[in-house]
Amino acid sequence: MAETLTLPAATGNRAFDRQAIYDSLIPQLDALLSGETDLTANLANTAAALREAFGFFWVGFYLAKENQLVFGPFQGPIACTRIQFNKGVCGAAYSRRETILVPDVEQFPGHIACSSASKSEVVVPVFDASGHVAMVLDIDSDLVNDFDETDVRGLERVAALLRPRL
Ligand code: SME
Repeated sequence: MAETLTLPAATGNRAFDRQAIYDSLIPQLDALLSGETDLTANLANTAAALREAFGFFWVGFYLAKENQLVFGPFQGPIACTRIQFNKGVCGAAYSRRETILVPDVEQFPGHIACSSASKSEVVVPVFDASGHVAMVLDIDSDLVNDFDETDVRGLERVAALLRPRL
């Protein structure tokens, strides 16, 4: 597997471009993950691939352990290291076992502001083979309303790639 990503050129149509990038990235990420069995290595490359492909402000994982969510591999500015299961957008995605899209973080009660630059956010649960939420994938943008259903579906596909590799 080549250790570079080949991604479609931007057309300027944001919705079209995001979909095309997910469709191009996901098989490449699948191949990249297939060449490695170590979970930390795979989470690190997944975070890097998402940031490289989309230029997101922040991409990272919080892993369920020690009865809370503990910071894992990420790309972007330093961030909060521990989140209670019932706190923040990450805790909500973990507890509800569903993706949470927050168009404007200031409108989400209990949002945890690791960075004041973060304006919108999407958090996707990653299920293990037993159906437990093993971790959440958190993506932040420095733009309000930067995510839509294309991102939800695309990031859920990324989470599904990780599932058999946990
Ligand atoms: N905003 C998240 C906390 C993690 S940071 O965004 C990196 C939350 O409310 O759970």
